[in-house]
Amino acid sequence: MGMIGGGAGAFIGAIHRSAAAMDGDIELVCGSFSSDPQKSKLTGEQLHLAPERVYDDYQQMILKESKLPEDEKMDFVSIVTPNHVHFEPAKLALENGFHVVLDKPMTMSLAQAKELKAIVEKSGKYFCLTHTYTGYPMVKQAREHVRSGKLGVVKKVFVAYPQGWLTFPKELTGDRQAAWRHDPARSGIAGCMGDIGTHAFNMVEYVTGLKLSQICADLNTVVEGRKLDDDGSVLLKFDNGATGVLIASQIMAGEENDFTIKVYGDVGGLEWNHGNPNTLLVKYVDRPEEKWRAGTPYLSGIAKHNIRTPAGHPEGYIEAFANHYRNFTLCVYAQLAGEKPKEEWLDFPGAEDGVRGMAFIENVVASAKSNEKWTTFAL
Ligand SMILES: NC(=O)c1ccc[n+]([C@@H]2O[C@H](COP(=O)([O-])OP(=O)(O)OC[C@H]3O[C@@H](n4cnc5c(N)ncnc54)[C@H](O)[C@@H]3O)[C@@H](O)[C@H]2O)c1
Repeated sequence: MGMIGGGAGAFIGAIHRSAAAMDGDIELVCGSFSSDPQKSKLTGEQLHLAPERVYDDYQQMILKESKLPEDEKMDFVSIVTPNHVHFEPAKLALENGFHVVLDKPMTMSLAQAKELKAIVEKSGKYFCLTHTYTGYPMVKQAREHVRSGKLGVVKKVFVAYPQGWLTFPKELTGDRQAAWRHDPARSGIAGCMGDIGTHAFNMVEYVTGLKLSQICADLNTVVEGRKLDDDGSVLLKFDNGATGVLIASQIMAGEENDFTIKVYGDVGGLEWNHGNPNTLLVKYVDRPEEKWRAGTPYLSGIAKHNIRTPAGHPEGYIEAFANHYRNFTLCVYAQLAGEKPKEEWLDFPGAEDGVRGMAFIENVVASAKSNEKWTTFAL
């Protein structure tokens, strides 16, 4: 693996490195960790990389790596830069024969996302978009419950991703993560809805298997002076007639990452919460609630495939990332061996999720500006 971004002081790069290293299938061999070559060099030293594999910029890294012998060069690149540095490095990597792991949101616009999806398809390489939360085993179990009809026909969805870390103007304090998230040139046309609303949207479509058909969005900029939304609510209508509510906020004071999804069918419902990720509650009209737990023998094959420890040993955020890395890597290894990947290995978010995520952002922003009640979810 090579990495673009994730230098000193960055947030998600170090999480990706831990997750990638978890199963012993991935070794970090090179990187361009910062737009500043000196900072990139320092990170390379801290990570004990060979100095000649730490590059001044990502263009140099991709081109030089592509010329190395097959058994030496990186097989894939992990891109963990702010949103405005997603499309170009991903395109360059795919066009030079590398598989790509990219953090969300996919690009800066829907048009760019569609272009990148076409490049992925033409390249024949694997592409993983790290919507972390669908990597949790009990989220996979939730999807199995919906798929198997345990809840009946899905009628109602509630999804909320509340955070409180941007309740005050942190971007004015020199906080790097807050700064780029509120700069439209680096974040895109949405703030909170692009940052965490896309996770909520991806989760809903993954667990329910439904597709969004109409939305009614309300976006707010609660903290004065911000150019992008820091809070929002969206009413949802799905292709089967089900309805729902999506809340994403970064100004809900005191909230951490209290991501919750609830899905209700005409027979029963389910509830998963990020604060207690190894538990999945299943609810019924006519009998007591069930508490399904990670690491137990009664789970579905797909949930078991994404678990590493026996019940009661907590698996969390880094393991959820690691599940995406492991499934992606199993596919890459299969391709290297000329074999077909198993169905459960293909269960990681990809280019189609990225395109739909960018469509979500653009439709939500359009709906919030519109005087019409309902906006058709356009792709
Ligand atoms: N999946 C998740 O749960 C999750 C969580 C947080 C962030 N993210 C996403 O990850 C990405 C990064 O977010 P973050 O909070 O880690 O940002 P960050 O600002 O902490 O880190 C970004 C890193 O990219 C580097 N960088 C910027 N331009 C570069 C370039 N041209 N070449 C090489 N390196 C460059 C910066 O120096 C920094 O090291 C964003 O797209 C964000 O949406 C995803």
